[in-house]
Amino acid sequence: MRVAVIGQGYVGVTGAVALARQGHHVTGVEKDPARLRSLAGGRAPVCEPGLQQELGLALGTGRLSFAPGLSRAHVAEPFEVVLITVGTPPAEDGAADLSQVKAALGEVAELLPAPYAVLKSTVPPGTSERLTAEHPRLRDRYAYNPEFLNQGSALDDWSAPSRVVAGVWAPPVVDVLRALYGALACPWVVTAPTTAEMAKYAGNAFLATKISFANECARLCATPDLNIDQVMQAVGLDPRIGHAFLQPGLGFGDSCLPKDTAALARWAASRGLPTPLLDAVIDVNRDQAALVRDTLRRELGADLPRSEVAVLGARYEPWSDDVRAAPSRTVVPQLLAEAAGVRVWDPATDADELARLFPGARPCADLRTAVRGARAVAVLTEWPEAVEADWSLLATELAAPAVVVDGKNCLLPERLAGLPLTYRSAGNRLPARAAASFGDGAPYAAPST
Ligand SMILES: NC(=O)c1ccc[n+]([C@@H]2O[C@H](COP(=O)([O-])OP(=O)(O)OC[C@H]3O[C@@H](n4cnc5c(N)ncnc54)[C@H](O)[C@@H]3O)[C@@H](O)[C@H]2O)c1
Repeated sequence: MRVAVIGQGYVGVTGAVALARQGHHVTGVEKDPARLRSLAGGRAPVCEPGLQQELGLALGTGRLSFAPGLSRAHVAEPFEVVLITVGTPPAEDGAADLSQVKAALGEVAELLPAPYAVLKSTVPPGTSERLTAEHPRLRDRYAYNPEFLNQGSALDDWSAPSRVVAGVWAPPVVDVLRALYGALACPWVVTAPTTAEMAKYAGNAFLATKISFANECARLCATPDLNIDQVMQAVGLDPRIGHAFLQPGLGFGDSCLPKDTAALARWAASRGLPTPLLDAVIDVNRDQAALVRDTLRRELGADLPRSEVAVLGARYEPWSDDVRAAPSRTVVPQLLAEAAGVRVWDPATDADELARLFPGARPCADLRTAVRGARAVAVLTEWPEAVEADWSLLATELAAPAVVVDGKNCLLPERLAGLPLTYRSAGNRLPARAAASFGDGAPYAAPST
């Protein structure tokens, strides 16, 4: 098929590459000139495992190209299907900003002959109904087909999704989607667009709920007689629950859950529908982002304003360079507001970018320089370089008495045992009944699982 994909962000570029790999002829449409140049030059504009290589291979087949606009490419050789994967960022009040979707749909509606339009961006329930009302011709050739990929495994998720949700008004459109995606070994949920829109938001709200639940458990397990790791391990072993999204820490800070939970709550409020559970999930998450600041206030007291704090990691996850809602964006300003001196180290982000993201903080090129002379360390990304570091060496660089706040609950407590520092995390991770701080040199006994 001849396919266009409007918007070459994480979802769009993944989709364009995967569809070309499948054998379709794909044009990735991108309005940002820098991003377009990068794509045309074979450089993936986002960091995603395998994407760079697959982009090169797809370009090499001649089945993938990129263009700044839709209409000229369509005139040359009409598209049969146009996927819309543009952004739906949060507006100031938390609602989804639908301006990119509206504009893209308008562009598709003008094409003749008319292609099928497949909206994949995450939008509030009722959006397809409302926006296609302005383009009635589109309705029989329209699907709302939300994307469920995860950053870090985007290509695999695209090619082998857990389910396809197809929201259509005209059943034949489902056949078009089946031809587009080929044989997929997953269930299909075929429904109306509004239900499909809600299904995407509800799925993300549930994932967010699991994370806030884990963080609430961590708050309940903050004393030395409890061990949060073992509690969550036991909880997740229940096959009805599972371990995914049960990791305590600084809360959800990826590019989707913060904005989608806020947008769903905003959508419900605009209809006068109460969302007490969702509101609590969002509140817990907001408070959780203050874990580092609040812990350092407690541990360093009046010293915090004069203390140097080394922030390790700018990203939410090592495998994604998407920092739109990463906890670092909250934690660093919070520490600067306490008048602490803040250094930021992130092995995959260059100094210029760190300086742009965190005005007032000092970018550091290596881990050892970052911690040298610091009273506190805040771990915000589970970088292997930090998790696997020789902490006995790093401890010698710290200014005593030092505190390490593990915002990802990713450090291995046994590696820190006996070192002259106080370790803090979301909930207590030391063996139950051990001293809350093992900076006293007490021998560490690995917890039995
Ligand atoms: N990022 C994820 O992991 C993920 C996962 C599932 C669903 N989603 C949803 O998918 C949608 C896209 O997410 P994303 O992270 O890829 O977005 P993004 O903001 O990273 O990328 C969107 C791209 O679309 C381009 N664009 C916007 N309007 C355009 C137009 N008219 N013509 C050409 N280009 C245009 C922008 O320049 C940008 O490069 C969002 O609704 C998001 O919520 C994202």
